[in-house]
Amino acid sequence: MKTLTVNLGERSYPIHIGAGLIDRAELLQPHIPTAQVMVVTNETVAPLYLQRVLDALPGRDTATLVLPDGETYKSMDSAMRVFDELLTLRYSRDATLIALGGGVIGDLVGFAAACYQRGVPFIQIPTTLLAQVDSSVGGKTAVNHPRGKNMIGAFYQPQCVLADTAVLSTLPDRELSAGLAEVIKYGLIRDLDFFIWLEANLDSLLARDAQALAYAIERSCINKAEVVAADEKEAGERATLNLGHTFGHAIETGAGYGAVLHGEAVAIGMCQAADLSRRLGHLSEDDVNRIVSLLRRARLPITPPAALSTQTLLDLMAVDKKNLGGKLRLILLESIGRATLPTSVDLELLRATLDEYGRN
Ligand code: NAD
Ligand code: GLY
Repeated sequence: MKTLTVNLGERSYPIHIGAGLIDRAELLQPHIPTAQVMVVTNETVAPLYLQRVLDALPGRDTATLVLPDGETYKSMDSAMRVFDELLTLRYSRDATLIALGGGVIGDLVGFAAACYQRGVPFIQIPTTLLAQVDSSVGGKTAVNHPRGKNMIGAFYQPQCVLADTAVLSTLPDRELSAGLAEVIKYGLIRDLDFFIWLEANLDSLLARDAQALAYAIERSCINKAEVVAADEKEAGERATLNLGHTFGHAIETGAGYGAVLHGEAVAIGMCQAADLSRRLGHLSEDDVNRIVSLLRRARLPITPPAALSTQTLLDLMAVDKKNLGGKLRLILLESIGRATLPTSVDLELLRATLDEYGRN
């Protein structure tokens, strides 16, 4: 097992990464400062892993809540279900929430924990690659609004993150690829050596080689933890973690939540960001081809659904948390391994990119 730390002073916490961690009571128990615990998961993950987590919580007053599966359930209605259950059970502030699942469950449960009685502790047990390398670390919690992804949320850090690499064995191939999009993102924004490692080792990752996966998760979490420690509330560098996300969120919202997976939308968005970076003279044609080729090899899409026109995407991109004073700002690439801070872009160049990547 490897343990990393997210350094945030008094709110620092560990990320444990390794095979077979979800029923290691000694990893969980020190981070549960309360008698009452509620494990929240979904109907896909519950039959696979819920009992093992419960077995690691002996002697606690433990409840469970199993929600429907899917991005459409990352909603205020689902948050209300969590609050209803906590209140029905008369759970007080003396309760810890455990999020067992992918990024949907992690974001939702983190948001519920931030709000319930103005904040109760919570733990992340991420079960998708995407959640292990990205969403469970850093304290961004949210639910979606019909008009925009993650528009209702809070920064709220977990007590610990338990990334059990063995649970990835049951993950569908499409979800593994979606997670690889966020892994590739770290190489693109700040870690050229990792990008080169990914080019050399992508086939091992797709074949779920345990060592390769553990290395990719660890290296991704090191990158994420460094960025979060430097800029927890996204005043600067943290925004670079959103490479491709402004495009991606517009695609997710436009296609209808769940139709294009988050990681798939980010992959398309990273191609668009790379193309725009080339138009601005930062990247060469070869750089763009290298990026697109790695994403393709990861079995990720590189263009949005045909039904999403350039104008539809532009309208949806106008609702983004990085925008300031009504002006669109995007994360672009200065080179492979180096991202820009949010940058205002020329609308005609952006249109050209969206036209180019809408046609294929
Ligand atoms: P997800 O939570 O929908 O999980 C994907 C699918 O895999 C679901 O059907 C789930 O039930 C299933 N699943 C989960 N673990 C499994 C396992 N071990 N075996 C078999 N099936 C399993 O999707 P995701 O890709 O994990 O997360 C996407 C969400 O994360 C989006 O809402 C996105 O906005 C959010 N996100 C948040 C952050 C952040 O910083 N908070 C960062 C990136 C993404
Ligand atoms: N996934 C973006 C962030 O955590 O900031």
